[in-house]
Amino acid sequence: MKTPSETGPYADFIAALDTVRSQPLWDRYHRITTRQPLSATPAHLWPWSVMEPLVARAVSEVAMSDAERRVLLFSRPEAGESVATLRTISGGLQTLLPGEVAHAHRHTLAALRFVMQGNGAVTNVNGERCLMNEGDLVLTPSWTWHAHTHPGKGRMVWFDGLDLPLSHHFDSMFFEMGAAGLPNVEPPLVRAPAASSPDATLASDSFEPGIGSTGIGPSRFRYSADRAFAALARSSPAPDGSRLLRYVDGHSGGAVLPTLDCYLMGLEESLPTHRRRTTASAICVVADGEGASVIGDKTIPWKRNDVFTLPHWQWASHTATTRRATLFFMSDRELIAGTGYLREEEENHQVEASS
Ligand SMILES: [Fe+2]
Repeated sequence: MKTPSETGPYADFIAALDTVRSQPLWDRYHRITTRQPLSATPAHLWPWSVMEPLVARAVSEVAMSDAERRVLLFSRPEAGESVATLRTISGGLQTLLPGEVAHAHRHTLAALRFVMQGNGAVTNVNGERCLMNEGDLVLTPSWTWHAHTHPGKGRMVWFDGLDLPLSHHFDSMFFEMGAAGLPNVEPPLVRAPAASSPDATLASDSFEPGIGSTGIGPSRFRYSADRAFAALARSSPAPDGSRLLRYVDGHSGGAVLPTLDCYLMGLEESLPTHRRRTTASAICVVADGEGASVIGDKTIPWKRNDVFTLPHWQWASHTATTRRATLFFMSDRELIAGTGYLREEEENHQVEASS
């Protein structure tokens, strides 16, 4: 659609600009500099009751030799052919059967796994063997070798979280297939100390003495469910009754990965969290219990293993309808904070203008 300038007294001048791939700012200034984020993406729910039969079909119909990784990616309705779940982050469901192997590879996109169903699989990250039980979080930072095996029993399903859209945006993707054995190499660079973090945090198993009774040693890349849920229960509740635990990098005390920032939120029955909105966006996995979230003008009822999005800059509140409920969040908050674009508000109270 032509702007007023393109049909008005400046038409000839703007046409001249157009021939050299230039544009005037003055007539499109307010279209470019919106008063606030447009937040056009509505929240979306992928119920486990809908996805589980498709996971079962993937297992029965798709051979690992064809799939390499047997993953069902979540793609938001507006994304078209894109594999983006939100603007910077993507999620999916990966499944692995006993005896199956997802062979080693590495890529510059960062990823993590939150185990939704099953026990006993192992993710090998740069030579470190990370046990995967329900509720565990395992990281595969950028350019780390990683392979999945399942010496245990029963089907495994885990949430795959990725910064795939961001990697595509920056056109910074590199990918490499690995050999049969994985080198035990040094972890990625140690990051600078975090500026701030919530009161309750959880570092990886390697920072916890005594971990390793499973026969698999403590890992820099694994956050066991037992420790995470216990730490959440010990944390102090917020004024609205909710509890928040941040998984942190043991060296920096900040987000687990530069682009992926993870939290557990504990909810008490019938106590809605204060309404908050943030310029960060997140994908949520229901780790435990049932409840509902009001996000923008949508109400999303949820139960265990459901996945839903928390798009940026939409008021959101979460309520448990069971005695307790626990939500796992993977967000781009650390990334947004690092750019200076983080703004967070709680109803009638601005929490943080930027950090
Ligand atoms: Fe991978």
